[in-house]
Amino acid sequence: MDFNELARLRWSVRDYDPRPVEQEKLDYILEAARLAPTGANRQPQRIYVLRSEEALAKVRAATRMAYNAPLVLMLCAEVGAAWHNQRETVMHGTVEDVYSVAEMDVSIVCDHMQLAATELGLGTLWVRGYDTQVLFDAFELPEGIMPICLLDVGYPAADAQPSKMHFESKPLEELVFEL
Ligand SMILES: Cc1cc2nc3c(=O)[nH]c(=O)nc-3n(C[C@H](O)[C@H](O)[C@H](O)COP(=O)(O)O)c2cc1C
Repeated sequence: MDFNELARLRWSVRDYDPRPVEQEKLDYILEAARLAPTGANRQPQRIYVLRSEEALAKVRAATRMAYNAPLVLMLCAEVGAAWHNQRETVMHGTVEDVYSVAEMDVSIVCDHMQLAATELGLGTLWVRGYDTQVLFDAFELPEGIMPICLLDVGYPAADAQPSKMHFESKPLEELVFEL
């Protein structure tokens, strides 16, 4: 399978089969997270595995978008460990005193994990719609740990279907510009 074939196989799964994710498959996905590049190789990703009834109940209190996934990975950054720059212009006329690549790092990690899971026949959903304070409180996250996103993982339910949005990729002419 070439890379774009794998990329085309991925779609956001919002209904899961109760079948648990095998430990060896989880290990493979976590290895993909370990291999992901990060700014200055600082490796600030901190990954929390949520699959006990208790942990899943806690995450479902923070978001309705954990759905019925048997496994949710809570992807966080140890923000102080991430590469950052002083006084960076981030947009025309907007300067940030401290500019960190923590979110980029963890996003790359999440993408690696999604595609590794896809290769194994698993479905995933990248979730940013949650209440961060509920996550902090429920999991007693240490100081300096910032949740960046959740990744639902599991086998798609037999009748699960991609949403309409999955088929709405813009043409390259709207996305790519030669300067
Ligand atoms: C950064 C990011 C955040 C997202 N957050 C959510 C979310 O909170 N809830 C959700 O249902 N989908 C979420 N998604 C999934 C997108 O809606 C989905 O990838 C997009 O609509 C394309 O559909 P597809 O993944 O099926 O190809 C997120 C995706 C990304 C990359």
